Amino acid sequence: MWIERLDASHALAYRELMLEAYDRHPQAFTSSVRERAVMPLSWWEGRLTSKLDAVFGAFEDGRLAGIVGLAFEPREKARHKSTLFGMYVSADFRQHGLGQKLVEATIAEAQKHPELKLIQLTVTAGNDAAFKLYQRCGFVQFGLEPLAVRVGEDYFDKIHMWRDITVQQGGGETVASSRPQ
Ligand SMILES: CC(C)(COP(=O)(O)OP(=O)(O)OC[C@H]1O[C@@H](n2cnc3c(N)ncnc32)[C@H](O)[C@@H]1OP(=O)(O)O)[C@@H](O)C(=O)NCCC(=O)NCCS
Repeated sequence: MWIERLDASHALAYRELMLEAYDRHPQAFTSSVRERAVMPLSWWEGRLTSKLDAVFGAFEDGRLAGIVGLAFEPREKARHKSTLFGMYVSADFRQHGLGQKLVEATIAEAQKHPELKLIQLTVTAGNDAAFKLYQRCGFVQFGLEPLAVRVGEDYFDKIHMWRDITVQQGGGETVASSRPQ
């Protein structure tokens, strides 16, 4: 298994895996499979080449098995924040640590950017597999958004979480982005 940053050459596989994610887990994602399936391949390529996104893939036996994205903020006053999005591991490859490796890849990427102080994300209330994974990687809950998504006739809340990336898990500050004393 290896983790690598995706580029335009991965657009087809990225599209296929994200559409699988939206289709199989409609409650876990705000985008719907119907909205995304009509987007042209250039839209997916754009996501993989945009300066405002970094998308990582987990590969097993040469096949894209998991994905996660990190989005950067263009606005001056919000450039210290980034957002983890589009986290998915295909069912056959779960419980092998790919999810954790992908989250760790976003944290390592964020820590390369000295202006970044945190990663935030949302996870649908009741999605315990994802919630526990994020907690294990150092994310903490700071809010609960009521009725955040509607899937059919059902409404779901979203848990808001964040991770201070200037702090290494279990201890001190990172060297690259430590705060002034
Ligand atoms: C949430 C999700 C990404 C987790 O992916 P994953 O690759 O299974 O994650 P990990 O393998 O790192 O961790 C999952 C569990 O497997 C366990 N695990 C990890 N490596 C293991 C191994 N070698 N043997 C046995 N168990 C292992 C972990 O301890 C963890 O246990 P827990 O459920 O008690 O927390 C995946 O379930 C998924 O894609 N779900 C659907 C989409 C989704 O909900 N996305 C998140 C949107 S916010």
